[in-house]
Amino acid sequence: MFHGAEPRPRWSVAGRWTGCYCPRVAGSNARPIGVFDSGLGGLTVARAIAARLPSERIVYLGDTARVPYGTRSAETVLRYAQACGARLAERDIKLLVVACNTVSAVALDTLRVQLDVPVLGVVTPGARAGVAASRAGRLGVLATAGTIASGAYPRAVASLDSRVEVFARPAPLFVPLAEEGWVDGEVPRLVARRYLAPLVEDGVDALVLGCTHYPLLAPVIAEVAAELVGPALRIVDSAEATAEELAGLLDARGLSAPADASRVAPLSILVTDRPADFASPASRFLGQPVETLPVEQIDL
Ligand code: DGL
Repeated sequence: MFHGAEPRPRWSVAGRWTGCYCPRVAGSNARPIGVFDSGLGGLTVARAIAARLPSERIVYLGDTARVPYGTRSAETVLRYAQACGARLAERDIKLLVVACNTVSAVALDTLRVQLDVPVLGVVTPGARAGVAASRAGRLGVLATAGTIASGAYPRAVASLDSRVEVFARPAPLFVPLAEEGWVDGEVPRLVARRYLAPLVEDGVDALVLGCTHYPLLAPVIAEVAAELVGPALRIVDSAEATAEELAGLLDARGLSAPADASRVAPLSILVTDRPADFASPASRFLGQPVETLPVEQIDL
């Protein structure tokens, strides 16, 4: 018996046929949303989801053993992403959010074929919000080297509005700065100035922060941008854009958590290395103390 939408083929991660797909038969809408990232930076996305959808349970996987992904080849990122997706699929998730921009840029199509749950990345929501924010049709994107090399943002923007021109540049130093908690003061200001100056020359009027880590530096980026061009540059956080798109997707697929679920649903966290070193960076990315959250170390 099928409920709701047209049933579609259901395949296991190993590529085997496993029967027919039906969310309500497969489990209740109280199942968690899986969220994964190369490390802890994706907690900025989990935070945006928790703020937008407080009844949704989240199981977060940070591949802390192999972070960073942004400097690696697309082939390696794809392999890592498949392992993360497969591991979360074992946790009875109802939907997967790929919080990592680098993974979203190179592995989304493969994950969609492999997994039998809807898969949402962060690139298209970020691109959509960027297109909406740019009045001049000149959109800047800062992201990891891997995301920029993939051309994912220009492709996503072109599919949304071919009149918008994209100026995409790597901003790799923002990642260690965010990890270290160096998000204000002289050093991040100098780095932000270096990364923003060419985009200002390109005449962008909106800027997508296309990396999990960059929202932590948003205040300093906004400050430097205001110095260089005044308040005219609009800054778009792809984490918030993704949470908004997720809300629409859950609703459209009939997957929203039941209204009687607890108001602040639990977040459980899996890491692949150093759970003991997790609390301080995780608290920064999540924007709240994490000492009480369950953290489990897993192997991929
Ligand atoms: N999570 C990555 C991203 O959003 C940044 C960190 C990394 O390089 O792994 O692209």
